[in-house]
Amino acid sequence: MKGRLIKIDPQNPDPEILRIAASVLREGGLVAFPTETVYGLGANALAKEAARRIFEAKGRPQDNPLIVHVADFAMTEELAVMNDRARALMRRFWPGPLTLVLEAREGIVPEEVRGGLATVGLRMPAHRVALELIRAAGLPIAAPSANKSGRPSPTEAITVLEDLGDAVDLILDAGSTRFGVESTVLDATGKHLVLLRPGGLSVEEVEAFTKEKVFLAIGADFKKRSPGTRYRHYAPSVPVLLMKDDEVFETVREIKADGGRWGYIGVRVPPVVPDELILLESLEEYAHVLFSSLRELERRGVDLILADWPEEIGIGRALRDRLSRAAEK
Ligand code: TXA
Ligand code: MG
Repeated sequence: MKGRLIKIDPQNPDPEILRIAASVLREGGLVAFPTETVYGLGANALAKEAARRIFEAKGRPQDNPLIVHVADFAMTEELAVMNDRARALMRRFWPGPLTLVLEAREGIVPEEVRGGLATVGLRMPAHRVALELIRAAGLPIAAPSANKSGRPSPTEAITVLEDLGDAVDLILDAGSTRFGVESTVLDATGKHLVLLRPGGLSVEEVEAFTKEKVFLAIGADFKKRSPGTRYRHYAPSVPVLLMKDDEVFETVREIKADGGRWGYIGVRVPPVVPDELILLESLEEYAHVLFSSLRELERRGVDLILADWPEEIGIGRALRDRLSRAAEK
């Protein structure tokens, strides 16, 4: 059954397919499944051997922890030491694109899943297939994005197959994912909420709810607390330039002069006509298609990708984060 891709209805998932997928998970296998953000590569979050297979399949550094996906609030209390603020955030924003980092309960989620940290990242995805899969398995599911480490995250099932192939036992294909960028990761272990990764839920929405400032983790402390940010990520094989100023058009002209081709993705119309154009109507749409577009432009054989640089507000914060990491040399 290696690398099998099965279509599943996102609104009304076939219980028989879920039953098969759940048994693969219970036997220690890997199942890729859709969430509202991106596709996840799932394994039993309570079994270190299963988690190890995730790291192997992705080529992921061992010290980068996995998010544990749950389907009900009772499950979270078993896995982590809860506090009132975390409970309030969960009730308000779950299911949805928010991951909360909490102190792990001892001896429950294995160290392999936690990347050796004393904390655990929890999230309840807003997708019927994901929720019903977790319920059918009767287990919390550890799941990073289902891409090869360093590549753009998959927003479609076929991309999972392209990246991971035989390393996955089963891929549940429910069409393209709604947000396109991953969940917002908030550290809720301390006095203040700290943003470890901007994502589908905006900081503004969180602050409007908590009436508290969300702190941005920067510098060395940030890297310690958010291992994921240590690594190059989201990068296509083609260089990415960001449209922060007009200087980038010099590079674009050089590429043209050398007989090269370039592609553009963004919401603003670029002042120079590109060879390949992906123009979006809103920042939400930009986020929705960013990862698939990077892969698409790569497929169309461009020598350079120029990407629009959005305002740092709402989903723009997550876009800036993914874009600047995709553009890292
Ligand atoms: O939307 C998402 O979050 C997707 C879907 C599949 O749920 N998952 C995802 O997982 O993006 P991944 O592994 O690609 O990114 C997880 C991020 C990493 O930056 C990781 O370092 C951070 O969450 N993370 C997980 N557990 C953590 C912890 N205990 N402490 C700090 N950061 C943690
Ligand atoms: Mg990822």
